[in-house]
Amino acid sequence: MTNAYKIAILEGDGIGPEIMTQAIRIFDVIQSSCDVAFELTKTPFGAGAYFEHGKAFPDETKQVCDEADAILKGPVGLSHEESKKIPVEEQPERGAILPLRARFNTFANFRPILLSKDMVHFSPLKPEIIENGIDILLIRELVGGLYFGEKERGIDENGLRYVKETLEYNEQQVRQVLVVAFDQARQRKKRLHNIHKSNVLMSSVFWNEILDEVHKDYQDIEVVHLLVDAAATALCLNPGQFDVMVMENMFGDILSDQAGGILGSLGLMPSACIGPDKAYFEPSHGSAPDIAGQNIANPYSMIGSVAMMLEMSFNMRSESQAVWTAMKSVFESGYSTADLSTSSDTTQLVSTVVFGDMVVAHLEKLLST
Ligand code: IPM
Ligand code: MN
Repeated sequence: MTNAYKIAILEGDGIGPEIMTQAIRIFDVIQSSCDVAFELTKTPFGAGAYFEHGKAFPDETKQVCDEADAILKGPVGLSHEESKKIPVEEQPERGAILPLRARFNTFANFRPILLSKDMVHFSPLKPEIIENGIDILLIRELVGGLYFGEKERGIDENGLRYVKETLEYNEQQVRQVLVVAFDQARQRKKRLHNIHKSNVLMSSVFWNEILDEVHKDYQDIEVVHLLVDAAATALCLNPGQFDVMVMENMFGDILSDQAGGILGSLGLMPSACIGPDKAYFEPSHGSAPDIAGQNIANPYSMIGSVAMMLEMSFNMRSESQAVWTAMKSVFESGYSTADLSTSSDTTQLVSTVVFGDMVVAHLEKLLST
């Protein structure tokens, strides 16, 4: 019997719709050459949804997501100035993304930091540092910490305005993401970098205690402890030392953008947000309103998010691999999108649509053999 999957499509803002158009073509190619059917439902989400429906995450979208087997989400958000036209609590980061993460308890965020040998010229790092490419899996806790802790603003006894934001975790929240990270380490190089700030933060002392408990079930895994500030330096000086990294929400937000920097562009980082019952997939980058509608955005992270969905939600490993290979082939043939080009390289620039055309052509060939 043909497997049939329902997928909620949240295009988002800025470059979201144009890169999503390219990602959707991947589902078409796969269902025309494999025994699988995808039912895609587009539904509003983000700043556009707020202006049209009064909510950044409308009820209708919640329902489509509830009924979907998996969710594919584009980037959301507006420029700093445009954002001010939306009430703070409905601005899409707070009004849409965080509620989406909370709704499906997507506690484990997988961010692959991957640069094949043939793509190392995109990195700003010296060739001798990354001659073998980069292959790191960053796992970020996604539904706790400062992002979701209690927040308060007010006026103190001295008449001064103040703000208070709390970093909260319970042991179950920490344990569940560590278990995911240890499992990944076991499938990879059996080395786990634990990123923390236990020299200052009580939350890191707590995190590390839970880690020691979980480690007892994973004695085959070597744990390397590294302070988050030192990790930032190490990512630049010697990224090859890392295989799987795990960290709390805010640390992961910052270090994953830095990781995008060592790849050459955040345009090269898809991600998977995994909960107990459902997962959603999204590029790690923003909606780039400054280049929206110009057909120059890099659709790699959006298409890579489809590849991650195929593997992680539908267990379609070989098809997922074919999507990665197809994208790599485009770069290996000497093409790139504008975000990756530097004045000194010799790659030929292609548009969003042409990048999509090339991926589709490679993919069709791969799936037909
Ligand atoms: C990310 C983004 C989000 C985050 C924003 C858009 C809420 O930067 O996914 O990394 O901070 O988690
Ligand atoms: Mn971020």
